[in-house]
Amino acid sequence: MHKRIAEIKKNEGPPKVIKNIFNNQEIENFLKLYRELPITVHNKKQNVIKKRWLQDFGKEMQKLFYERVSSIIGDFKMDNLKDEKGEDIYGLFQESYNPIGLHIDGGFNFEDQIYKQTLIPLTPVGSTVIFKNRYYGKSTNFTIDQKELEKKDLKYGQNIRSKDHIGMFGEKAFDKEIHRKFLSHEKIDNLVGLEVELIYNWEVGSLLTFDRSSLHCSSSVIDGKKIGLTTFTKR
Ligand SMILES: [Fe+2]
Repeated sequence: MHKRIAEIKKNEGPPKVIKNIFNNQEIENFLKLYRELPITVHNKKQNVIKKRWLQDFGKEMQKLFYERVSSIIGDFKMDNLKDEKGEDIYGLFQESYNPIGLHIDGGFNFEDQIYKQTLIPLTPVGSTVIFKNRYYGKSTNFTIDQKELEKKDLKYGQNIRSKDHIGMFGEKAFDKEIHRKFLSHEKIDNLVGLEVELIYNWEVGSLLTFDRSSLHCSSSVIDGKKIGLTTFTKR
């Protein structure tokens, strides 16, 4: 469990969507940056490509990015993974062809005061589901898949697999209609006790920010592929 929970909770609130925070040219610049970056992970099974925003890339975008994000959430520090030189990265671009399952991005250090995470969609079709339910452990994928749960040999930056969420939020079955429309990639039993706080429909130019303790996942709505830029922050 995170140690600075009182301070973490003090800064928590509902998710926020800010529309038209980036213009077309800025979005184009993000995509150009994405194309230039080297691939970090290409997981062919999950069909996802991940690229870290390394400090040597998109220098002129870094200032703009920090200014725009801090205008919404106030001062923050980056809490993304470090690169090989131990330097901060600005965020993680993900190009995914399949929806990402239920998880939290609590980070890996319980001394940290985790804060907000942001998502900038760079392609128009997609949505992200944020639940009201919260969890104060490390970055964790929540699953009831036995094979997944057996994965213990995790590399740097990989999420823990856990079913600790089952029962933690009560026994109420998840809403069938929402499951059918948005979360068909999840077993409904994996969502027991969860309540949706926000379904964010991706809109290019907008930015979503939410607390790092919030359980969330992609929705099943993907048109081919989607590309987003995520950044994790701490204080
Ligand atoms: Fe996430």
